[in-house]
Amino acid sequence: MTPPTLLAQWFPIHKSKSAALNGGTTRFDRNLEESLDVRRSDKAVFTLHRNEPHPQSLDFSTLDFLHLSKSGMIRKAFLEELAANPDFELSAGGSRLLNGNNPYTEAAERQIAEFHHGETALLFHSGFEANVALMGAVPRPGDAILYDEYIHASTHEGMQISKALYKKSFKHNDVDSFREKLVEIKTTETMIRDGKRSVIVALESMYSMDGDVSPLKELIQVGKEVFPGGNCQFFVDEAHTTGVFGEKGRGYVSMLGLEASVAVRMHTYGKGLACTGAAVVCSNTVRETLVNNARSFIYSTAPSFPMVAAIRGGYKLMESGQTQPLQDQIQHVVKHFARTIEANDVYDEAVDEGILSIPNLEGWESKPFVTHVVPVMTRQRYTLFLCYHLQLAGINCFPIDYPVVPKGFSRIRVVFHAGNTEEQVEKLANSVCEWAQEMLDLEASGQGVKVPSAARQVHAAQGTSAP
Ligand SMILES: Cc1ncc(COP(=O)(O)O)c(C=O)c1O
Repeated sequence: MTPPTLLAQWFPIHKSKSAALNGGTTRFDRNLEESLDVRRSDKAVFTLHRNEPHPQSLDFSTLDFLHLSKSGMIRKAFLEELAANPDFELSAGGSRLLNGNNPYTEAAERQIAEFHHGETALLFHSGFEANVALMGAVPRPGDAILYDEYIHASTHEGMQISKALYKKSFKHNDVDSFREKLVEIKTTETMIRDGKRSVIVALESMYSMDGDVSPLKELIQVGKEVFPGGNCQFFVDEAHTTGVFGEKGRGYVSMLGLEASVAVRMHTYGKGLACTGAAVVCSNTVRETLVNNARSFIYSTAPSFPMVAAIRGGYKLMESGQTQPLQDQIQHVVKHFARTIEANDVYDEAVDEGILSIPNLEGWESKPFVTHVVPVMTRQRYTLFLCYHLQLAGINCFPIDYPVVPKGFSRIRVVFHAGNTEEQVEKLANSVCEWAQEMLDLEASGQGVKVPSAARQVHAAQGTSAP
């Protein structure tokens, strides 16, 4: 179990600092502290802490979905790559356009493209960089970008430098809202209506804070109806579905059989594949556009050998089918969690009373698949209480709060892994319900301040009694 003292460090009480600064502080630092104080008073300040939970605590938090990191599988595959290339040079020696292009990196890109049934691929140091490159380099002046309102920060970052003037969102996963915005573009943007410019639609395959998947098939259908000439194209960020969905982990687009209808798929390797980096799978035309226009590609040193070797090792694990049972295990444990929590007597009452809500488990039995990110919602003021309870019970999972999600939408993000067992998910389900029972009892008792026991322990360690 994670001790209350450690939780007190992970979740400190943030006090204003600028007022207490002494005369020796530079004006520069004072100005920065004043702006941080705005975040502190809004309870929206991030702190960097070492997240070293108790070794026995159960992982319902990391993005090591396939358990490749913890199981050592990716390390073994990586070491095999190194052994097969003993004379490797560690650094690439320059940008891809100068000395940094080499046969090993090019072979990796061919391997990636073949695996995902794409025409070609281009590697990036990270998914964040790939999205910035895509949005910054591909849209031309006069193009439009239409994006799901929940799109990742990296796509927003890219849109800031994008030459597209029209950048608007549609409601999250809402096909009607998408159609409405697309028709609006067709009406107002004559160059696009005439096929001389394009609409780029930016989506994620699975949204990482909500664990829901994009209605991609329907969105593509609408795109084709409104722009039959093919100047409405889809860019799908597969950060959370690479390795986890599709045959052998080819991704969500592949699982739906939509490879030919999606212009760009962005696969990242820091999550399911447990290494680092990303690749854009696309046409030769898009690749050449990135090579010519993406400043983070042109003006950055090429990926190092270890980064590419780990990715190639990861692909070998997927190609050989070794990760398929791990994908299946994720499906199994999420369903086992759903079954267990629904069977708990407390669950229905907690849902009826508004103490618990797990939106993406609704109707799970009739869905063709479940997702590995399952947000557990409670009353907003209770989110940390639930987190403390689970952490003290030895379950490692974290709250997601503003500004990562909008105010009023904080939740505990539970992430399931291939390494989780039936016993572990039973413990998770039972701990959630045990906490819900405590909250139901506290609410029924009519006491003014309803602070459950785990939170009281953490508050004591924080030196505060404040809820
Ligand atoms: C949807 C999405 N896209 C892109 C990224 C960035 O990928 P990377 O971690 O490789 O920079 C993330 C990471 O959190 C993500 O969740």
